[in-house]
Amino acid sequence: MIKALRGTYDILPPDSYLWAGVEATARSTFLCAGFGEIRTPVFEQTDLFTRSIGEVTDIVEKEMYTFQDRKGRSLTLRPEGTACVVRACIEHKLLSQQGAMQKLFYIGPMFRYERPQAGRQRQFNQIGVEIFGSYSPLADADAIALMVRFFAAVGFDQLTVRLNSLGDDASLDAYRAALRATLAPHRDALCNECQRRYDKNILRVLDCKVPVCREICARDDMPTLAQHLSPAAAAHYADVKTALDTLGIPYEDVPSLVRGLDYYTHTIFEVTDASLGAQDALGGGGRYDGLVQAMGGPPTGAVGFAIGTERLLMALRAKNAPPDLPPPDIALIACDEEACRECFSYGYTLRDAGLRVHFPYDTLSIKAQMRAAGASGVPYVLLRGKDEREAGVFTCKNMKDGTHSQVREETLIEQMRVLLQQS
Ligand code: HAM
Repeated sequence: MIKALRGTYDILPPDSYLWAGVEATARSTFLCAGFGEIRTPVFEQTDLFTRSIGEVTDIVEKEMYTFQDRKGRSLTLRPEGTACVVRACIEHKLLSQQGAMQKLFYIGPMFRYERPQAGRQRQFNQIGVEIFGSYSPLADADAIALMVRFFAAVGFDQLTVRLNSLGDDASLDAYRAALRATLAPHRDALCNECQRRYDKNILRVLDCKVPVCREICARDDMPTLAQHLSPAAAAHYADVKTALDTLGIPYEDVPSLVRGLDYYTHTIFEVTDASLGAQDALGGGGRYDGLVQAMGGPPTGAVGFAIGTERLLMALRAKNAPPDLPPPDIALIACDEEACRECFSYGYTLRDAGLRVHFPYDTLSIKAQMRAAGASGVPYVLLRGKDEREAGVFTCKNMKDGTHSQVREETLIEQMRVLLQQS
């Protein structure tokens, strides 16, 4: 038997109904805020990701699904959406007009070769937002506020945003130098990978999961980003927090927060929920002012975030019972073969009138059909057999109180509408 691959899974009803609801809420939240939906391909040239996410990152070094196509080109299944959206914006010249804003959102699968566990899959889904064309701290605050609004709309009321600032290039250079100096005496104690990261990309030492590296990074004398922010970067960060205060959005200043992708500058943020493991964020994002230009576009201020839909749903399921699939309005039940064909045709008449109708394809026993109708939670059953055919009617059973009535063929739609309104 062929099974779904490790780290991938099927989304079945009624769970798919929950998915559709969350994605519909995302669409309406972001469309209302003036964002347009973008859909990019699930595979791209490998260089797109190595250049944007950073060569010395876990994603690029260990987690990408990279393969050669039949012409020997190196392609990669997208591990995240930001690089793809940036590529599409540059390719379609969406950012070329000076001062023009682009506000985009996306919903779709991403791929990372990680060790599968609860809330960590190899194919997972993200709901993401990207804002291009502004360096204003109000854009950072808008991204964070939108993320919080969306979480509230799907049923989270007590989320806290963890916030930090990486500052501008000058701030980051100063911070890297301070990190290097502080970590120098501990260099030999770091794990092998971090000894390499020390030279190549020292910030990545901070999100290493190896206990000895974590211990070293938790030392009191470790420098913080806040100590190295340039005055302009500190002012930007303060303005983001003031804007969040204006909206009453709670946040936690987390000086040790870093993100696993290299393109960030200034504000970075994550949202966690107590129902998930401490290390697992529901979503995260930040500003990435250098990325568009580094990928060949015009200098463009940009900020965005992405939410992991699987993790969001895990946390939601921990809070609320899953919703039931909405039952049909009517189940048609056929007592013989001719009735089966009639139910097919009347079923479509009712569907065309906007009612949700189930009809049988095969003449199963009436008992079996009634049992299935009862299990589906349908409020009304319409029974058709020889007697009903001769009288030009359907026998209607109210599944709640068990009462029966006759409904004439000619007035079927009107009568069923009235009954359904009453139920
Ligand atoms: P990220 O933090 O790598 O950021 O991923 C965002 C979210 O995707 C995570 O918080 C998590 O919920 C979910 N996620 C990541 N990996 C997995 C996995 N293996 N299984 C399940 N869920 C996962 C980004 O991807 C950035 N592109 C976000 C961004 C957009 N920054 C600016 N704009």
